Amino acid sequence: MEFNEAILSYDSVDISYNGQKVVKDVSFQLHKGEILGLVGESGSGKSTLIKACMGILGDGGMVTRGDIHFGQKNLIDLPEKELRQIRGADIGMIFQDAGASLSPIRTVGDQIIESQMAHGKISREKAKENAFSLFEKLNFREVDRVWNSYPFELSGGMNQRVGIAIALLMNPPILLADEPTSALDVSVQRQVVEEMIRCRELFGTSIIIVTHDIGVVSAMADTVLVLKNGEMMEYGKASEVLNNPQNDYTKLLLSAVPKLVRK
Ligand SMILES: Nc1ncnc2c1ncn2[C@@H]1O[C@H](COP(=O)(O)OP(=O)(O)OP(=O)(O)O)[C@@H](O)[C@H]1O
Ligand SMILES: [Mg+2]
Repeated sequence: MEFNEAILSYDSVDISYNGQKVVKDVSFQLHKGEILGLVGESGSGKSTLIKACMGILGDGGMVTRGDIHFGQKNLIDLPEKELRQIRGADIGMIFQDAGASLSPIRTVGDQIIESQMAHGKISREKAKENAFSLFEKLNFREVDRVWNSYPFELSGGMNQRVGIAIALLMNPPILLADEPTSALDVSVQRQVVEEMIRCRELFGTSIIIVTHDIGVVSAMADTVLVLKNGEMMEYGKASEVLNNPQNDYTKLLLSAVPKLVRK
């Protein structure tokens, strides 16, 4: 697959927490419709890297060098007020526990309506219509039951899918997914992966997926970036990185997986 337009670009980015550098000189470009797999061992800086563009590193965290461009905007310089508008609407985020961020005391339907109303002028009817139309595209079953349920009445996997649907309803051009499937069992994992791929097909969404699961990377990603101790070990086309890794660390990472089949 060939891409032209870079929608998000990191240029020589360093990130520190309380003066300690944890991401070092990372550069990559995410293009329209591209799925980038971000892999590396625990603590290598994957979450830090994607949080940086949303301005959600927390008090001690800071980008100390480099630029992160979203279109013409340098996200590093942007005031909190502008970043808040970009979060959700332009850059959606799905966390490992997207389902856990649902409120336990309100129905799924009410929460989905509210999340849409919080981001713009929209009627309750239209918000529901949007949601049902997305549910259909994502092949949700028992849509009415899900809509009228409280989160505790649904499985963890279903809550996670609802969390993902809420992020998708904003139809953000960029979706950052931080281990969105790691808390799910294998069959729901597959559904979530398929949902994200469908999202790219339907809306041309660009996606960064952080995962420990090389199977997920090989199923989804066009490009792969391998991080270790905050440094880029390897970056390139998924087919090349997965089938013909140049770097010893990548080889090690892949050797943990029995056999890779990539169509
Ligand atoms: N809020 C924070 N304050 C201080 N240090 C932090 C903070 N968040 C992360 N770190 C440190 O930054 C480094 C990178 O952490 P990060 O969470 O980005 O890794 P990760 O690759 O996402 O790991 P995992 O696979 O376990 O989620 C680690 O050394 C971690 O201890
Ligand atoms: Mg992480």
